[in-house]
Amino acid sequence: MTKKLPAHFNSIAVHGGLVQAGATRAASPPLERAASWSPETMAELDDLFEGTADGFYYGRDRSPTPALLERALSALEDGRFTVAYATGMAAIAGVLSIAGQGKRVLATPDLYGKTYHLIQAWLPESGAEIRFVSGQNQQAISHHLKTWQPDLMVVETLSNPLVKVCDLGWLVEQAKAAECKLMVDNTFASPYLSRPSSLGADYTVESLTKYINGHGDVMGGTVTVLDAVDYRALFQQRSTFGATLDPQAAWLTLRGLRTLGLRMERQCANAAALASYLAAHVAVQQVYYPGLESDPGHATAQKLFAKCGYGGMLAFELTEPSRQRVWQVMDKLQMALRAPTLGDITTMVSYPAQASHRALSAEQRAAVGISAGLIRVSVGIEAIEDIIADFEQALQ
Ligand SMILES: Cc1ncc(COP(=O)(O)O)c(C=O)c1O
Repeated sequence: MTKKLPAHFNSIAVHGGLVQAGATRAASPPLERAASWSPETMAELDDLFEGTADGFYYGRDRSPTPALLERALSALEDGRFTVAYATGMAAIAGVLSIAGQGKRVLATPDLYGKTYHLIQAWLPESGAEIRFVSGQNQQAISHHLKTWQPDLMVVETLSNPLVKVCDLGWLVEQAKAAECKLMVDNTFASPYLSRPSSLGADYTVESLTKYINGHGDVMGGTVTVLDAVDYRALFQQRSTFGATLDPQAAWLTLRGLRTLGLRMERQCANAAALASYLAAHVAVQQVYYPGLESDPGHATAQKLFAKCGYGGMLAFELTEPSRQRVWQVMDKLQMALRAPTLGDITTMVSYPAQASHRALSAEQRAAVGISAGLIRVSVGIEAIEDIIADFEQALQ
């Protein structure tokens, strides 16, 4: 008997994909490492290959532990189907392969550097036409959707690294009216804050590497969809390109995601406090955080995130915007880690010009507002007093 999932986010996170019906009924998900499965008859194997029977035959296509994670993610995201990949980038490449190759693609320029690079430099080789338009410029988006009629639009819920907010409800409406598919990279927000599938977004992407696993020991990505045709296309793409999520990574992620809500609650509170502290600091020129009332994305974030918080990511610009000064400050941090990732339980700082947006030219970085003085912070779950004390001494 398949039980109905509970109604609230934290309960779904704890129970999604927990007990496998018909198996040993272990009270935590089993890790099955098998690479292939042997049904009793050739006819059964044929049904599995054909997709007319539910089960497992070859690990590159499907295996039990990643399948549990996919079920859990579909529930958390309010979607119907999820396809798990080896990394977040593999998930993004999966969507671009099935929905962007040779097509018209409208994207916001405020994207993780590798996503921007993939769209701007790699996708055109397939014959795709690309246009970039700000995710906050609704007039320009409407104009392009109506007059240029793109096939796919790509946005991030909260952009990397400037934490700009997209009004996803509005975007879904506009994209649907223009018969344009919408891909939302929800990595910075995580399903705790935002579930683009519930609003009708066609492809919700998460880098599992970040908040969903949260403990810095997994690489992975997912695409959650609403449509069975999209699911089959992604499934086939993953099977052919081979960027399948490893069972061990799925198992660790299933463990990590149980506490997503608790971690996010703390990270949102810590980030809000650090953002206010930095905004009042003389060594800081500007803070980018949608939880600040002065932030241009504040009202949209309030609506989109239903007052659950504003995320654990922020960025700030030093009054002395040189690489030398940034490195000096970052090197002085005692507790925060200098690391090119985000969403872990530890506070981490990264220098976008060196790390997440290294693939962009200096001109491209300047065009999207990434200056030499910009520091990105992924705020962890430590005591806020210790986080602030660490920045206090580093900024002196
Ligand atoms: C917003 C965003 N999306 C996707 C990715 C890619 O995820 P992964 O590193 O798991 O490939 C990243 C990585 O930093 C990211 O910041």
